[in-house]
Amino acid sequence: MGGERARASAGGPVPDELLDPAERLDREELRSLQLDRLRATLHLAYEHVEVYRRKFDAAGVLPQDCRSLADLARFPFTTKADLREAYPFGMFAVPMAQVRRLHASSGTTGRPTVVGYTERDLSMWADVVARSIRAAGGRPGHKVHVAYGYGLFTGGLGAHYGAERAGCTVIPASGGMTARQVQIIQDFRPEIIMITPSYMLTLLDEFERQGVDPRATSLRVGIFGAEPWTEGMREEIEERFAIDAVDIYGLSEVIGPGVAQECVETKDGLHLWEDHFYPEVVDPISDEVLPEGGGGELVLTSLTKEALPVIRYRTRDLTRLLPGTARPAFRRMEKVTGRCDDMIILRGVNVFPSQIEEIVLRTPGVAPHFRIELSRRGRLDHMTVAAEARAATGAAERQAAAAAIASGIKDGIGVSAEVSVVDPETLERSVGKIQRVRDLRLRD
Ligand code: DLL
Repeated sequence: MGGERARASAGGPVPDELLDPAERLDREELRSLQLDRLRATLHLAYEHVEVYRRKFDAAGVLPQDCRSLADLARFPFTTKADLREAYPFGMFAVPMAQVRRLHASSGTTGRPTVVGYTERDLSMWADVVARSIRAAGGRPGHKVHVAYGYGLFTGGLGAHYGAERAGCTVIPASGGMTARQVQIIQDFRPEIIMITPSYMLTLLDEFERQGVDPRATSLRVGIFGAEPWTEGMREEIEERFAIDAVDIYGLSEVIGPGVAQECVETKDGLHLWEDHFYPEVVDPISDEVLPEGGGGELVLTSLTKEALPVIRYRTRDLTRLLPGTARPAFRRMEKVTGRCDDMIILRGVNVFPSQIEEIVLRTPGVAPHFRIELSRRGRLDHMTVAAEARAATGAAERQAAAAAIASGIKDGIGVSAEVSVVDPETLERSVGKIQRVRDLRLRD
């Protein structure tokens, strides 16, 4: 948990006068708003985007067939491949003259996907990020250090305009130049930091290198996202920095950061800003929509976007929907700890990097840095896990830690792994989204 100081100055529930009007709706009012917006979006997509027209026609559905929110299940899915095929602007629903900004998501293979925003889209995006910052404990007058990368990635600029909209003072640090980030935090004294969890750990090393106590900074709240992180990582970050650490979720195809946000007073999953994004969870194999609480792939439909409406976008992110708590009308999504496509299949067993993270983080003597390498030995898949020792960890303790991680993996996941605990500060550090898995199997 964050330090006492953190809880005293930031982190309380949002006072009524700072809630958005939509945050005061009850569930029925919200659902009725969603249906109106959904129908308008289906019309916009069908009438202005050829890809949607073809897909709807092939599925035998028309926008007017959507009479209830449940009818959305009759409409076809959209995938990253659809956006790639339409590269760069083929799925835009408005003429380019109305597009004020482009972003792109690199992806690991193939063409990037390009996304566009009208003026109203940018304003809506700033609104949902501002709402997210308030839910995290940010208030007008706070300084927000943005260490998400600025550029085609949506993290930096998305956080930036949201923080301005929330009445905060933005420090647009972007990613990289880690020594300078620490200096800026010392000198400018921000209350809030927006950053990937893995880059926060890189900052932690740098604080220590500079002999600065990370618990003694001005920071009160960290808003972490853009990659999966576990409860163990939350504890580590909260403890080491004496801050509250909350989760922000989003993806470029849907808007960027600000699709869902964890409320600091509950830290119990992320409230989906359902007045703008309609969630479903589907079984990734059968494509069936699952009832609330069922674990599967998150599918999102934009309700107010103009330049790039997305209908039933397959996020590949695995989660489940839960009823609202701090915002009763808005459903929550459970923390995303894996994607359909970062699941490792090792000798027939499904393994998520986040499961390894949990085990590493609860092992005494090791730092929260680890890498996974997959290779093939003969005809068998082989997994190697390297975790980093903490500075004070001696040789015997390292051996015990390696054995504990290996048996944690064997007992908890059911596969054998070769585990080594390597010297402090030898594993590569993140400056943005971390890549933890190296898969050498295909190259053998
Ligand atoms: O990562 C947008 C973002 C920026 C979100 C800053 C939060 C903070 P993309 O580069 O398109 O956009 O990557 C989207 O990142 O489908 C998830 O797999 C992953 N992701 C994003 N937020 C979280 C999170 C941005 N809080 C992809 N937890 C998504 C787990 C996340 N995974």
